[in-house]
Amino acid sequence: MGETCTGPHAGKVVQNASRIPWRLIWHELGLSSRWIGRFLRGLYMPIRAGGRDFIEPGGRTENRGEYEGQENMERRQDYWDRVYTDKPSTGCSWYEPCPTLSLDLIMQAAPGKGPVIDIGGGASFLPDRLLEAGFSEVTSLDLSAVALSGVARRLAPFGTRHHVIVADVTAWSPDRHYTVWHDRAALHFLTEAADQARYVAALRSALLPGGIAVIGGFSPDGPLRCSGLPVMRHDSASLCALLGNDFTQLRTVDHLHETPNGTVQAFQFNVFSREHER
Ligand SMILES: C[S@@+](CC[C@H](N)C(=O)[O-])C[C@H]1O[C@@H](n2cnc3c(N)ncnc32)[C@H](O)[C@@H]1O
Repeated sequence: MGETCTGPHAGKVVQNASRIPWRLIWHELGLSSRWIGRFLRGLYMPIRAGGRDFIEPGGRTENRGEYEGQENMERRQDYWDRVYTDKPSTGCSWYEPCPTLSLDLIMQAAPGKGPVIDIGGGASFLPDRLLEAGFSEVTSLDLSAVALSGVARRLAPFGTRHHVIVADVTAWSPDRHYTVWHDRAALHFLTEAADQARYVAALRSALLPGGIAVIGGFSPDGPLRCSGLPVMRHDSASLCALLGNDFTQLRTVDHLHETPNGTVQAFQFNVFSREHER
């Protein structure tokens, strides 16, 4: 675990690289988080017949495929947009100024420095650290357009090496491959078997054979809820069963996360490699 955190945000509590006090402005204008989320989603992902497009500020377009449970997805998006509008990301229980464990696990297991996708990346600083470490491209995927608009602004200096995708991972059809799949505390919100199966389907179609998946969430000793929502706690056995035979488990690391208000939460991170086709 020797990887140290460097870069402009190292050791600092960084709220948002933007110096514009958006929350204050929105509050003064009386704009609700629901409206703001819809507005940003309108900017970030115009709907087109038969599917959705996501258009990045740089102009790259990604076809995100059909989604059957549209209403369900919008409810989830509104929820998470409200979370990221109502308080600064530094006040969220999952906030960490430097994602040291994720970074170490990726650096130690990744086959080279190919493209990474951070599932449910929110406002995390992991993309910053990976890009600084020389990974070719990092994509932050999240339900919340509010969270991702801040990340996109912060990482604009990296140009086309950073991408954002506003999507529900359970409804997302990847149109390219990645060598690393990272998820810290997104899968654990999927408490229904059908959603978990869709998550694994997205993982299988996104991750190249030989690639690695780093999945962290509350361990069986961890809390029952996160951000006010019930969670499904996992350990290596439940993740192995979920992912199936074409994933080999490489490592398990138990981790205690201290939240900004001083509470300690038990996490477990597991690293898997995707088998090459036989
Ligand atoms: C607890 S936060 C963790 C954020 C980030 N991974 C980190 O470590 O700072 C969970 C994140 O997952 C996102 N999320 C929850 N359910 C999701 C889903 N079905 N698809 C995509 N993102 C989801 C939320 O919007 C939120 O940003």
